[in-house]
Amino acid sequence: MAAPSVLILGATGFIGAPLSRLLKNEHPDWSVTAYVRSVKGATEDALKATLGGVDHLEVGDFSEFDKIKHLSAQHDIVINSGNSATAEPVAAIIAGLRERKAHGSKGKLIHISGAGNFIDFGTSGNFNPSSKVWNDDNEDDIKHINNDMFNGRSDVAVLEAGATGDIDTYIACPSVVYGGSSTGSSGVGVGYSLITGNAKSLGYVPYAGDGTAILSTTHVSDLVDFLVTITNRAAAPQEAEGTAYSRYYLLETGRVQWKALATEFARVLHREDPTAFPASTPRNVTHEEAGEGALRYLITSNMLLEGPRARRAGFEPKGKSILEQMSDDLKGMFI
Ligand SMILES: NC(=O)c1ccc[n+]([C@@H]2O[C@H](COP(=O)([O-])OP(=O)(O)OC[C@H]3O[C@@H](n4cnc5c(N)ncnc54)[C@H](OP(=O)(O)O)[C@@H]3O)[C@@H](O)[C@H]2O)c1
Repeated sequence: MAAPSVLILGATGFIGAPLSRLLKNEHPDWSVTAYVRSVKGATEDALKATLGGVDHLEVGDFSEFDKIKHLSAQHDIVINSGNSATAEPVAAIIAGLRERKAHGSKGKLIHISGAGNFIDFGTSGNFNPSSKVWNDDNEDDIKHINNDMFNGRSDVAVLEAGATGDIDTYIACPSVVYGGSSTGSSGVGVGYSLITGNAKSLGYVPYAGDGTAILSTTHVSDLVDFLVTITNRAAAPQEAEGTAYSRYYLLETGRVQWKALATEFARVLHREDPTAFPASTPRNVTHEEAGEGALRYLITSNMLLEGPRARRAGFEPKGKSILEQMSDDLKGMFI
């Protein structure tokens, strides 16, 4: 495929913006379209420049099925870096990319999922040595992804579409993504937002048990580098290798224990907003006191994954740890 056209959903996001910039930096000759919710009070030209000099902007919402379908049919590669929690907008992307088949070209979809899928739903806050470790080299693990998981409905839709062979699919699955201070991000992304929002509504930063439960984390620069590597692979003229289930990549820069993570969150959030976070240390709580609904499970359970297939495909974790980055990442977040 010579100089492919690429459509990026979520291009203004915590992950999407540095991805757009890196993609245009590596491939100035590729035609990149950013699908954005609004131009955010800027001019179109200013927003294009912020996104690395993307060629086109399309303004729309994820709920606009026909618009996303139509745009997807017009692009060789679609990257969904905007939404993994519902089956939309990925269903519209798939419908559009499928239309390309009639014109003799195969559409390529790169979807960003999230490793919230793989928590063990423990309630103790302790490390559990017998918890399942999800491994991207094991296609049976990927076949166990289902609609009840946090990002299950979009994952299942993408995997099933890839399995038909109508389109080539790739799923990059990072864990909690951090490191925005190193990409100049103004937002903090979904992962930090969930954890800080939960702490804000509680009035304290929780951890449970002995706090040895493990959270997996991914530096945004490591993720974005890998997304460009996968996009290069999707742009190659040959058909994708292997099954759709073998093109699901588990990404991890490092692991952290919840007590250490909560300790740093409490210190930084208290520094940023002492009114909302009166204590500079975390609170040891029960599972029931760790948050609302499913969030309390994130805090008390283990997220264990391994990504040997991602490593072979070019994922190279080099970023600093979340404990080293958090102070800079969350600086000014409540201003
Ligand atoms: N950050 C993490 O820790 C993490 C971890 C694992 C997986 N993920 C997944 O990665 C993806 C991106 O996450 P992120 O942290 O980069 O999120 P983010 O910073 O909130 O970015 C989301 C992007 O989607 C756009 N968007 C949201 N709702 C929209 C709508 N209804 N219509 C049109 N555009 C809409 C946003 O536009 P605006 O700029 O206008 O808001 C933004 O560009 C998500 O699917 C997330 O689940 C994230």
